Amino acid sequence: MPIKWEKSLYSEKAKRFLAKPPEEFPLLTLLDGAVRSGKTLNIIQKIPQIFDAIGNENLKVFSGYSKSTVRNNVLIELKPFIENYLGGNCKYNGSSGELEITLWGKIYQCLVVGGGESDSSSSIQGGTWDFWYANELPQHHYGFYNMALSRLTPANARAFADSNPESSNHWLYRERIKPYLDGDEDVRKVFEYWHFTMKDNANLSKTFIDNQEKLYSGAFKARKINGLWVVAEGLVYDTFSFEKHVIPHETLLNKIKNNEITEYFLGVDWGWNHPTACLLFGVDRAKTYYLADELYASKIEADKIISWIFEKQKEYGRFFSFANCDNARPEQNDKLRRSTNLVIYEEKPKVEDSVAIVREVINYDKLLVSERCKNTLNEFSTYRYPTEAEQARKGLLESESDIPLKINDDCMDALRYGIFKHVTTFGK
Ligand SMILES: Nc1ncnc2c1ncn2[C@@H]1O[C@H](COP(=O)(O)OP(=O)(O)OP(=O)(O)O)[C@@H](O)[C@H]1O
Ligand SMILES: [Mg+2]
Repeated sequence: MPIKWEKSLYSEKAKRFLAKPPEEFPLLTLLDGAVRSGKTLNIIQKIPQIFDAIGNENLKVFSGYSKSTVRNNVLIELKPFIENYLGGNCKYNGSSGELEITLWGKIYQCLVVGGGESDSSSSIQGGTWDFWYANELPQHHYGFYNMALSRLTPANARAFADSNPESSNHWLYRERIKPYLDGDEDVRKVFEYWHFTMKDNANLSKTFIDNQEKLYSGAFKARKINGLWVVAEGLVYDTFSFEKHVIPHETLLNKIKNNEITEYFLGVDWGWNHPTACLLFGVDRAKTYYLADELYASKIEADKIISWIFEKQKEYGRFFSFANCDNARPEQNDKLRRSTNLVIYEEKPKVEDSVAIVREVINYDKLLVSERCKNTLNEFSTYRYPTEAEQARKGLLESESDIPLKINDDCMDALRYGIFKHVTTFGK
């Protein structure tokens, strides 16, 4: 049942958001906070006004984890609002994602897309956007998010997003929210942050709020009810710390220059639609591993990795000794073997064994990652074990609960291959 807008109640915060003229918002505005706090419906209610202000020259994009989450969370309320309350029309083609909105005599061409997978950004065509609504932004892939921002080139382009809090290691928190809260001027020029609690949704009863509070505990309560960005249980590398284990690329370059790093090697995880990840490691005399650089791209073959290896050997002025590669693509590994001076291993370790080794290295503060390795850093904050509910849903056996979810794990696999091979060959 679509909501009855004539019965809507508005908190002070909702009123302030709805009354603010579209042109006074910066490029990206995020509404985040507790569940059911009215984030999505506030944006839905504001869309007609924003469209009117921006005009219909360019494409408008609605994204979510997948097309169907956009339909279930957004279109389900946007369509009746536009058609029954504003006299407009919404035509949606679920298979192509094309959405045509007619409102106040203008036709707006929109596209609904899923942004949750690592290959999402390659699935949509180029072009200029002047509006982007990201429903549940933290569920989008980092590559999709960057691609979307780069499309919003017109001066009047505006993006709005809603989200529940995730881990404080999440890119959205590290790159936008935290600097915004710390008063970073550069971030504040392009990003605005509205925090909502259930009290900011005047349409909820006290009983409803009390019942919601009972549904969550621990880190999930902090996130879903209090709207805080905190680390949750279930992360595979939960002791990896962005404060302790991430270093400026400069620091790494100095170590290379001073010959503190004595050996260089690679870990490779082949993909096609899912990205191929190739990680470059250095190791010093104290057996501290440095993740120096990463290659992360979809639809690339061995030749691309080969030229990257030559480029990097030149850039850092060092030779690399070996690569341990995913054994799923023997022909690509052969090409690496023939075209580079590296020893190419194809040892695919058991997941549990190699995760245990990487965890140990991290626990002893023996893995330091250059801030340049953005995709790997993102995966550190999302690579996790299935929850009990997910195990039950997927019918997993008890023994399989030790296996991390195979979502956005490309760099994490390359990391396992590289570190496992070095530790098992040369010791700790
Ligand atoms: N303007 C409104 N008029 C009537 N009801 C509303 C309005 N805004 C919110 N609500 C009620 O509050 C509920 C939660 O709103 P909404 O879905 O926007 O919250 P949310 O913060 O996006 O939640 P979630 O984090 O679960 O996605 C709605 O399902 C609806 O019942
Ligand atoms: Mg919502």
